[in-house]
Amino acid sequence: MQRRHITLILLLPLLTSLPVQAAFPGGNVAYGERIFMQGINQVPACHNCHRKDAMGDDAIGTPRLAGQNPAYIYKQLRDFAANRRIDNTMYVMNSNARGMSESDWRDVAAYVASLEYMKVGLSDMQRAEEYGYAIGSRSAGRQLVLHGDPARDIPPCYTCHGYNGRGLPDTYPMTGGQRYVYLVNQLKKWRSKERHNDPDDKMVNVARNLTDADINNVATFLSSAPRGECKKSCKNFLCCVW
Ligand code: HEC
Ligand code: HEC
Repeated sequence: MQRRHITLILLLPLLTSLPVQAAFPGGNVAYGERIFMQGINQVPACHNCHRKDAMGDDAIGTPRLAGQNPAYIYKQLRDFAANRRIDNTMYVMNSNARGMSESDWRDVAAYVASLEYMKVGLSDMQRAEEYGYAIGSRSAGRQLVLHGDPARDIPPCYTCHGYNGRGLPDTYPMTGGQRYVYLVNQLKKWRSKERHNDPDDKMVNVARNLTDADINNVATFLSSAPRGECKKSCKNFLCCVW
């Protein structure tokens, strides 16, 4: 009896952090695909910049959207539309998001979330270096992702983003398997507070203690971080949540 009690107490933080899948009603995947491939109203087709497979492009600093959790994608489009997040990489996402309706955001989010999830290591690191992005140490990055650095007040990334950054819906995006250039850019934007659309300044507080080397290290690890214990048959983020 006593032992069962203790087990329950130990499990509590994990249980309370379980994702609430039902909070985000799904959109129309087929309609989302049409928006992604053809654009809508004055908004150009998303694949022009995010690529046909929605895996992003280091050459122009666009993120992978494929396999990302849909509630997070929806929130970003809403934040871009309201200028709570500013795209100063290509200066297009604010007007793109404003050119779409709320149900368009939901549909396109449902479409990209339904795409390839398991693939990681999309970035060609040699090319990224040619674009002017220094490459970090994978092992030092792994250390920060899994353990943080308490002496410098850096929490382990995995406590919020899940194991190896595989995401924890609805709030915490997948960062593992994301594009290298995009990861580096965003971490610098959080650090300078150019980006500050995170709930309770969660990321602003994490990033303010990161050095350039830390940023290169975590991005080097995350961009190719394996999904770990996810099932081989896993096609989307739902098989990998804890
Ligand atoms: C002309 C290029 C371009 C087009 C077209 C484009 N995007 Fe983007 N998108 C970007 C760039 C650049 C960023 C990164 C912004 C930044 O650095 O903050 C981005 C970021 C995003 C993000 C944020 C992702 C994240 O992980 O936070 C979402 C969501 C997104 N785009 C969705 C779309 C959708 C949906 C469409 C089509 C309706 C679209 N984009 C069309 C260039 C584009
Ligand atoms: C206390 C919780 C928390 C911790 C710890 C945390 N993050 Fe985050 N992170 C968030 C939240 C919440 C968001 C989404 C913000 C939003 O809604 O726009 C986010 C977003 C991000 C993004 C942007 C993703 C995208 O697609 O644009 C990156 C990159 C990121 N985090 C990296 C990290 C790294 C690297 C660490 C560890 C050094 C870390 N995070 C630790 C809460 C956290």
